[in-house]
Amino acid sequence: MANFDKTPILNSERITLREINVPVDAPEWYKLSKDPEIHKWTGNNAPGNVWETRKNLKKYSEIEQIISWAIISNETGKIIGTYWVWKPIEYPDGSVIIPAEVERIAKHCWRKGYMKEARKLVYDYCFNTLNVNEIHAQVWKDNVNSVKSLEHAGHVLYKEEKKLIEQLGSYHIECNYKITRETWLNSRLMK
Ligand SMILES: CC(C)(COP(=O)(O)OP(=O)(O)OC[C@H]1O[C@@H](n2cnc3c(N)ncnc32)[C@H](O)[C@@H]1OP(=O)(O)O)[C@@H](O)C(=O)NCCC(=O)NCCS
Repeated sequence: MANFDKTPILNSERITLREINVPVDAPEWYKLSKDPEIHKWTGNNAPGNVWETRKNLKKYSEIEQIISWAIISNETGKIIGTYWVWKPIEYPDGSVIIPAEVERIAKHCWRKGYMKEARKLVYDYCFNTLNVNEIHAQVWKDNVNSVKSLEHAGHVLYKEEKKLIEQLGSYHIECNYKITRETWLNSRLMK
């Protein structure tokens, strides 16, 4: 299994994924992530001030079980999003699975290709460096952007469950997706 002491730096043409740097990233990420639309289907609320953003980023950068990245624009050097994956779990049958992933990108970057670049980098790292067999993701069916983004990358729906979203006070369908190296390589993301 890989050594997770250091978060790997992943680079592509327009973005870099690097370890979250709380004091540097928090002011910019607060400005971008205070838009409630980003949080509608995430289980979080929009931050009320920069200190809340600092607290959240610190929490994610310190959770032992996840690998968390800040998505940085190469053009500005500033944060435009976050991406984290659960560390791989090895099962008795030998399969290695990442049970969850979560990503957010600033609204002005939606559908501009930044998330596609980020996903390619993360999946390349997971499948080709960590040698995982599957990555799983859970999203609300109403989160059309996320459902479409996952399916575009090769994720396949394998289970739906009705669950309460306490924040909204209503029941919604949670979709459980999974992707293998093969479905990723054959996906529209890789065309
Ligand atoms: C979900 C999210 C990360 C998607 O990022 P994005 O930049 O908008 O979308 P992607 O670049 O990943 O989309 C890839 C492809 O999926 C499809 N797609 C994505 N959103 C779509 C939509 N609303 N309608 C139709 N197709 C869509 C398109 O084929 C798209 O490729 P294209 O832009 O070249 O046409 C972004 O909307 C976001 O941060 N949302 C708020 C946080 C969130 O809900 N996170 C996910 C749950 S943890």
